[in-house]
Amino acid sequence: MTQTKIAVIGGSGLYEIDGLKDADWVTVETPWGAPSDAILTGTLDGVEMAFLPRHGRGHVHSPSTVPYRANIDALKRLGCTDVISVSACGSFREEMAPGDFVIVDQFIDRTFAREKSFFGTGCVAHVSVAHPTCPRLGDACETAAKASGINVHRGGTYLAMEGPQFSTLAESKMYRESWGADVIGMTNMPEAKLAREAELCYASVAMITDYDSWHPDHGEVDVTAIIATLMGNADKARNLIAGLPKLLGEDRAACPHGCDRALEFAIMTQPD
Ligand code: ADE
Repeated sequence: MTQTKIAVIGGSGLYEIDGLKDADWVTVETPWGAPSDAILTGTLDGVEMAFLPRHGRGHVHSPSTVPYRANIDALKRLGCTDVISVSACGSFREEMAPGDFVIVDQFIDRTFAREKSFFGTGCVAHVSVAHPTCPRLGDACETAAKASGINVHRGGTYLAMEGPQFSTLAESKMYRESWGADVIGMTNMPEAKLAREAELCYASVAMITDYDSWHPDHGEVDVTAIIATLMGNADKARNLIAGLPKLLGEDRAACPHGCDRALEFAIMTQPD
């Protein structure tokens, strides 16, 4: 048994969480540079928590400049065992409406201007990301969302785009009709891949703010419309997060899905 430490990476609209006992913003250095911001640590219902605003307080990092490697490494160094990613997204499905949450379980990675691995020169590793999210964490997020009265969808494919511009109409239709994506956002990749390399359980809670540009009854997406929905979504996310410690508990057995042993058969380089 190890001690649970839940990390929450907050997306647009979610820059801190409340109710933490012994709350303290701590600065963490990593070999990959500085994380997006200091990390808010404390306990909730007796369980250790760490909160990192992905874009930094004041929203200073764009999706392409978020220091993803430093963020995941800093959470690992703090002893986090589980990572809950919270982020805004657009929807490709009529039934997944703005204000709803999706517990994402698959990704299509279309990002291209980001460092995507901790491994390269010196130590080469190829981890499996066939199943990039942890079902055990997904269960907890779904239960906590339902308990908070959130309209939540379990399972969905998240198209990670580079941004910062939104998609063209042709791209939006292609992702939805040909590629089968359910939601679109700019931040879950390479975050999910790096969490797996760091042997951290990872779940993604995607909060829908808009219908992207494919929907005939909705205008093209703009930031003003997104921000209006975002604020309500952030309140719901805070309620969801408050329910997680009781569901995950203070002590933690090995992950039944092997997220915490992902490197066991992944390293190619011969030890010295
Ligand atoms: N984040 C919120 N809405 C989005 C959209 N439509 N596309 C990409 N990222 C988003």
